[in-house]
Amino acid sequence: MAANLPLKIGVLGSGAGSNMQSILDAIIAGTLNAEIRLVLSDVPDAKILDRARRHGIPCRWLDCAPFKTKLDGEAEQRCIGWLREADVDTVVLAGFMRIVKPALLAAFPWRVLNIHPALLPAFPGVHGWTQALDYGAKVAGCTVHFVDAGTDTGPVIIQKAVPVLEDDTPESLHERIQVQEHLAFPEALRLLADGRLTVEGRRVKIAPAG
Ligand code: GRF
Repeated sequence: MAANLPLKIGVLGSGAGSNMQSILDAIIAGTLNAEIRLVLSDVPDAKILDRARRHGIPCRWLDCAPFKTKLDGEAEQRCIGWLREADVDTVVLAGFMRIVKPALLAAFPWRVLNIHPALLPAFPGVHGWTQALDYGAKVAGCTVHFVDAGTDTGPVIIQKAVPVLEDDTPESLHERIQVQEHLAFPEALRLLADGRLTVEGRRVKIAPAG
């Protein structure tokens, strides 16, 4: 894809959608050359769908039954079909609480990005911030990465760190991490939109600007 064409983003999310909002804000501010063409959620009353509706972005509930923790089978095919119909070229997992399977990854090779609330490879899986706190880590943070067939194992694009404070609770630490998430995701997408990312083995090479 030519570097100067806008990214055509499809978002998958299960929750509040604050990361999707940060991407949308960057687009509106003119700092990210992209458009969000479709938002899908596996949770019918998720706030991310309300946000999409408020901004006039097409959105749908993606019923993932009978699976509880993955996007697979007929639901996966439906998801791929909807993303293709919307002419999406980049899939953003913004708080999507399911494992995505190889068919989706094959449909969008190295074009599926996820944000994880920990400094991978530390603390993969759910509630990365609580894992960091329970472990006694002094530094926590977030990771934007390309998605591969593993869980939170794909090549890292960007990481941002925050200190863990003495009196942190899971909530206060997650809040501090989310501030960085809202910077990191638009930043990673900007690099992708500018054609500056290449994946070489496990490493993502970032070409110099301009
Ligand atoms: C974020 O902390 C993200 O790292 C994790 O789920 C949370 C989603 O938050 N994967 P939001 O729905 O974007 O507000």
